[in-house]
Amino acid sequence: MAEISERLSNAVKYVESRLSARPKAGIVLGSGLGGLAERIEDAVYIDYADIPGFPRSTVDGHKGRFVCGKIGGVNVIAMQGRVHYYEGYPMEDVIMPARLMALLGAETLLLTNAAGGINKNFSAGDLMMLTDHIATFVPNPLISTSPDFKGTRFPDMSEVYDRGLREKMLKCAEELGMTLKSGVYCQLTGPSYETPAEIKMLSLLGADAVGMSTAVEAIAARHIGMKVCGISLITNMAAGISAVPLSHEEVKQAADEAAEKFGELVVQFIIHNC
Ligand code: HPA
Repeated sequence: MAEISERLSNAVKYVESRLSARPKAGIVLGSGLGGLAERIEDAVYIDYADIPGFPRSTVDGHKGRFVCGKIGGVNVIAMQGRVHYYEGYPMEDVIMPARLMALLGAETLLLTNAAGGINKNFSAGDLMMLTDHIATFVPNPLISTSPDFKGTRFPDMSEVYDRGLREKMLKCAEELGMTLKSGVYCQLTGPSYETPAEIKMLSLLGADAVGMSTAVEAIAARHIGMKVCGISLITNMAAGISAVPLSHEEVKQAADEAAEKFGELVVQFIIHNC
């Protein structure tokens, strides 16, 4: 495999050749939330499989393509399906899409995911805006023998999720009459769901929700200078909090049910903030 920087520049060249405008915002659509892509107008679809050197998304419920077009007049590039660490890809591949979107011109990155609720004030179907994250249980995505990226070696992470964007997101939710919870997201590697003891530990550490993505993408995006905002759809209460065993089917079903309100929030956010 070629060096990541070479693969990235080839991928950028390919995607640019398929686009007529630079995207202003990137959107990563989490498990079961890919339906939002239908709200993108004048859509151009770019399969990950057609992009040279690009990792593929192998998870059921993730389509594996970029959808590029407009939301309310704003040029966006959305990922219908992300790349997870648990699929066996090295971290530099997991964060390649975030870097690609930045290099294409996206200044803002909206990260979405399906997550298990740890905070007992949450219930399945809630939306939670990320105020911060715990990424300590997964390898740092910036570990590299050749730190040839634009960002610094030791980037500050004291405000990963941009305060201004968070305020705007809360305002969008309020205008839509929607309840938007806030909290700390913890990323674990997966793919097994957590044990009740692990969830108790994460709760003691201050996590409100748990999932298998997002935090490493947010780190990479901040490193390269994007503004980041994150939303979790709480598809289930986490192990031990919920009495029922967890399944991917349940996660997808909850995502389907919330897709509509989630889509409205994202559209409002893009129109008003980008
Ligand atoms: N744990 C981890 N990831 C998840 C969960 C969960 O309970 N629900 C959706 N993604």
